[in-house]
Order: sequence, then structure tokens, then C-alpha cells
Amino acid sequence: MIDIRISNCNKNYGSLRVLKDINLEIERGEFIVLLGPSGCGKSTLLHIVAGLDRLTSGAIEIGGRDVTDVEPKDRDIAMVFQSYALYPTMSVRSNMEFGLRMRGKPMAEIRPLVEEKARMLHIDHLLDRRPSQLSGGQRQRVAIGRALVRDPRVFLFDEPLSNLDAKLRASMRTEIKKLHQSLGTTAIYVTHDQLEAMTLASRMVVMKAGEIQQVGKPEEVYHRPVNLFVADFLGNPGMNFMRGHIRLDGGHISADIGAAILPLDGYAFEAAPADGQAVVVGLRPESIQPISGLTSGGGAFTLTLRPTLIEHTGSDNLVVLAMGDEEIVGKFPTDMLPKLGEPVTVGFDLGRLSLFDAESERRI
Ligand SMILES: Nc1ncnc2c1ncn2[C@@H]1O[C@H](COP(=O)(O)OP(=O)(O)OP(=O)(O)O)[C@@H](O)[C@H]1O
Ligand SMILES: [Mg+2]
Repeated sequence: MIDIRISNCNKNYGSLRVLKDINLEIERGEFIVLLGPSGCGKSTLLHIVAGLDRLTSGAIEIGGRDVTDVEPKDRDIAMVFQSYALYPTMSVRSNMEFGLRMRGKPMAEIRPLVEEKARMLHIDHLLDRRPSQLSGGQRQRVAIGRALVRDPRVFLFDEPLSNLDAKLRASMRTEIKKLHQSLGTTAIYVTHDQLEAMTLASRMVVMKAGEIQQVGKPEEVYHRPVNLFVADFLGNPGMNFMRGHIRLDGGHISADIGAAILPLDGYAFEAAPADGQAVVVGLRPESIQPISGLTSGGGAFTLTLRPTLIEHTGSDNLVVLAMGDEEIVGKFPTDMLPKLGEPVTVGFDLGRLSLFDAESERRI
């Protein structure tokens, strides 16, 4: 069942086209994460679903109803902002009660509801405080609680965790995930934090300059990016890109990247390759490591390379390897670290490889 339908949605500010023909269908209960660089139109799209911004053209449906011209308050949505947007002079309790009181719900029903949600979010002991007497994380819980008591059809979140420190962010992320698992309410969540996107999303929507680039499950978008932009945007450190060209001979397909010829007979092509076609081969750092650590089973390829730099990030060891005139980055297990300058045998996990046409930058 489709809960939100965004059809041919365009938004212009004067001559600036901020959203370009966006189409997206969101199923009931999905947790959709909008991801993309700053200024790509994520908040604008969220505001349009909320009704806080008007479309230039197109239509929005929520729960099967065309809400394109419906006021935000009548759209059955609740929004949580990065800035929390709490009423500073009201207690936590009043902040949480406010929306329901405005809707004319009797206090006898509001009280227990607010108390229940406050317990759920572990802020029940803070109900009589003002927002200024709370920490950032507590304020964020109040903002979420205020959205929860409304029991809306759709939750909209605009970078709700970006003002929190790394540790609190991680724990709030887990709580939002648990909340969604127990409530099952449809949600659209904007972030530019990849970890948040990967862990929370049932489907991810990657945007660039007002256009949707790819929609898919996080692992699908991560492992099978549709173009160089998506491939490059996801992953930290980023995907390695190696320029080369296709070789077709004797029924075998390979990619000549100068320093090596990579066999591609096992690669699932989306478009038939041509002999000599200029391509970019993409391989993520975790797919470049000692052969015993490779996991996909897609066929490994080995190469002897010279490590030029080793970076310890705590959980990972990034090994920079010289390959021809270029450098690539691998992720090595701690007990298999090479010595700087001493050539080492490195496995390439060809089952995780992505190929892009060099000109169109699309996956082939
Ligand atoms: N009221 C406005 N008038 C003119 N331009 C606007 C207005 N609001 C947003 N924009 C422009 O629209 C584009 C998209 O903005 P938006 O806030 O949706 O980006 P975003 O993806 O949410 O970015 P961020 O990650 O930085 O929050 C930007 O170029 C922005 O400058
Ligand atoms: Mg924004």
C-alpha cells in the first residue's frame, strides 16, 4: 500500500530549479532516508511533503489523498527539526501537550498519552522542566516525543541528530530505529550522515542538484551504485577508481587498467561492453586486502603492490598502495598489516567490483 506518492514534483526559486521532476512512491511503514550533498534539495523536498513549501508543479498524495493544496496541519504528518523548535517558555509537558490541545483533544486523554510517550523516551522525570534546563539530547527527545503523541500517519525528520555529539548521536540513532520497529509508522528522514542513512533506511534516496540519482536498499545502493556520483558519495574512505578500457578477445572480457588486466567474465553487465570502451573500475577499500580476508566469493584476483602509507583509524587499518602512477586504498586486518615499502600480495574482490562508462559515468 502506497502511503506517500510524490509525482512530477518541481520547485523553483526564481530561475533556480531546486527540485527537478521528482517521482517517488513510499510504501506504508517504510523508513525512507534522503541523502545527498548540502544544497541538493533534501529539506525542500521534506518541506513540500509537509506542506511548509508550495510546489511549482506536481502533486503530493498522503494516504491516498491528494494533499497538494492541503494545509500542513491537515496532512496527518509530524515533523522533527534539527533545531528542535520547542516553545522556550513552556514546560516539557506543555510542549508535548500543545499540538493535541490545539486540536481540541480532551485533557483527560492527553495526559496519559504524554506520560506514556515520555516514559518510552526516558524523559518522564523531566516533564516539569523548561527546554533551557535540558541537555541537547534531552531536548531532541522532547521534540521526538511531541511528534510521537500526535500519532501521525507520517513522520518527517530533518537532520534531527546533527546537533548532538558523536556518542549521543549513535545512541539516539539506535533509539529511533527501535521506535520505528515498534511503531511501524512511515517516515522520511533527511541526513547527510552516511552511517545514519545506511543503518536506518529501509530504502535510501540519493539526490544530487535537485534530482534523484538512485533509490534502493542501503546495501544495494552501496554495492551497486548506478553512477560514479553515487559510488563516490557513499563510503568512507571512498571507492577506489581506476581508469582503463574494455578488452574483448576470444570470448573473454577484461578491463585493462594499465598496471593490471582484470578478468570480468563473472561481472554482471547492465549494458553490453564494447572493445576499447573507456571505463572506470570501482572497488571499495574493503574489497582490497589480503586474499584470506575477502568474502564475496566472486573470484579474487591478486596483484603484488607496494604499501606507501598505513593509517590506523581504530577499528580499521587503511593501507595506501602504489599501483602504476596511481594510489589505491585497501582495508587490512590488524594481524595482516604489511611493512611500508615491502611489496605485498593483495587480493581484489572482483565480485564486488563496479564498472562505469568513462564518458556517461553510468554503471555498465
Ligand atoms: N527560500 C529560498 N529561496 C531561494 N533559494 C532557496 C530557498 N530555500 C532553499 N533554497 C535553495 O534551494 C537549494 C536546496 O536547498 P535545501 O535546503 O533543500 O538543501 P539541503 O539538501 O537540505 O541542504 P543541507 O544539507 O545543507 O541542509 C539550495 O541551493 C538553497 O540555496
Ligand atoms: Mg537541509
